[in-house]
Amino acid sequence: MGIGDLITTILKRINRMQRWFVALVLVASLLTGTSFGQAAKAEKSLYDRLGGKPAVDAVASGLVDRILKDTRVNKWFTHAAASPENTKAYKATLADFICVAVGGPCKYTGADMVTAHKGRGVTSAAFDAVAEDLAAQLDQLKVPAKEKKEVMDLVGTLKRSIVQSSSQQ
Ligand code: HEM
Repeated sequence: MGIGDLITTILKRINRMQRWFVALVLVASLLTGTSFGQAAKAEKSLYDRLGGKPAVDAVASGLVDRILKDTRVNKWFTHAAASPENTKAYKATLADFICVAVGGPCKYTGADMVTAHKGRGVTSAAFDAVAEDLAAQLDQLKVPAKEKKEVMDLVGTLKRSIVQSSSQQ
């Protein structure tokens, strides 16, 4: 066998192997039900899965209503409860914050969580009570378990910023 024949044979082998590889990938892709197009497509944002701005507004509004009735925490919210305007403004700010946090196209112009809660002496128990009110509100709105968990996990990440030790204040 001359050197030319050897090269031709090797090239043929590689081509055959490539064909096998392509066939294998196609079969694997069919079996798993994932096309490359689907794999590249990103999952819908949490904001969209919750139901967009109307859903976010319903979460914020219902949560504030619950907080203002909740004797475990409403002593913190005398300002928000002082007038219908204050309540409305707090609901709107909270809605914008939640909207941005879940990946929505809103603009939040309020303070960051550390600054917003600095000097308020928010306790761990108070935080947990508000988180409980939020969970109840998500249940009332029939938010599915997966999305509810994502929202609750997000809120959990804020605890360290909101419940501040006296050395941070
Ligand atoms: C659980 C997650 C919480 C989130 C996402 C959150 C978010 C916010 C936001 C976005 C603001 C508005 C900031 C601004 O206007 O610049 C705010 C204000 C405030 N937060 Fe929180 N907060 C949380 C928990 C708490 C807790 C547990 C307490 C106390 C028990 C608390 C007490 C307050 C108070 C008193 C204000 C000022 C409200 C007003 O006077 O209008 N927050 N919070």
